[in-house]
Amino acid sequence: HELALSLDEIEKGGYPHFMLKEIFEQPRAVADCLRGRLNVENHSVQLGGLTDVIDRLAAADRLIIAGCGTSWHAGLVGEYLFEHLARLPVEVEYASEFRYREPLISEDDVMLVISQSGETADTLAALRTAKEHGALALGVCNVVGSTIARDTDAGVYTHAGPEIGVASTKAFTTQVSVLVMMAILLGQKRGTIDKEYAARLIRELNDIPGKIEKILDQSDSVKRMAELFTYAPNFLYLGRTYNFPVALEGALKLKEISYIHAEGYPAAEMKHGPIALIDAMMPVVVIAATDHTNDKMISNIEEVKARKGRIIAITGAENKEVIDLAEFSCPIPETEDCLSPLLTSIPLQLLSYYIAVNRGCDVDQPRNLAKSVTVE
Ligand code: AGP
Repeated sequence: HELALSLDEIEKGGYPHFMLKEIFEQPRAVADCLRGRLNVENHSVQLGGLTDVIDRLAAADRLIIAGCGTSWHAGLVGEYLFEHLARLPVEVEYASEFRYREPLISEDDVMLVISQSGETADTLAALRTAKEHGALALGVCNVVGSTIARDTDAGVYTHAGPEIGVASTKAFTTQVSVLVMMAILLGQKRGTIDKEYAARLIRELNDIPGKIEKILDQSDSVKRMAELFTYAPNFLYLGRTYNFPVALEGALKLKEISYIHAEGYPAAEMKHGPIALIDAMMPVVVIAATDHTNDKMISNIEEVKARKGRIIAITGAENKEVIDLAEFSCPIPETEDCLSPLLTSIPLQLLSYYIAVNRGCDVDQPRNLAKSVTVE
């Protein structure tokens, strides 16, 4: 028993939980994911796994992305990326819904499934349905040789290394990193991305691991903030554009490991219902990367404050207006808008982790959950 315990400690590399270890591994995990695939000098992206299918992908009528949970959130970020950079129509589906619908999908479509484990039953079923209809089937998986990785026609591994904590962390940031690379590659192939913009994105992407490191250096301030909100009964997460999926992801993280009810919303939807929930007991996490929606986010913050809601802002270090309005803020280094989920998701992972620890929850093995859901 003692030996087993010490092996466990060794596996956690000095961290109290796998989740914290995996959060802190992200600079390396993202760097491993990018390694050998980004060429900063030539402004190019190489994804060996897609070489044989890139022409068919570039000529596709439509891309359908399917996954579950965090992987579905990464897919939503993918939707914004592929539309913006490759001007390709995209639909994002819950794998569990797609499989039971009567999907209109043909050989002119491409199905991209995203799965950390590569074993999620619903995602596998969605993949098989798409294949039966003749679509090209691509995968973004972490576990090498997993069922989904083997069943797809082609794909890209995330190379995040083993993820043991039930809450997905480095899987998400590496999935998004792969989707950014795919969207740049496809944009270049389809001629929809400006040369200089592509060069800038590639340079910025290459700098992401260092910027994640900078955010992790401020983990103590997130820890202190977590102490103040540990017993909040509800949380609301708001984001726009690329950070709307991050709002969903932040809320999912908090729900699954701390058992606090949390909802993620596109910020503009607040006025269509959730605003009724806001009072002095409601922390509202606003993810406000400095993009073209910044003014709108500022109005949302003011609406929350007018109802005494408490604002926690995840925002660019230069975004003084938002920082001044918020009760607490986690400044993140500036980057391109479409890369911001790679940074804004980090403080949200830390916030849910510290709150769950304060509440005495079993962070790595939350109740009722399994790491991979291989049943329907
Ligand atoms: C994430 O924190 C969850 N534990 C869960 O939503 C997970 O992302 C989902 O079950 C999908 O798993 P997969 O990526 O292995 O397919």
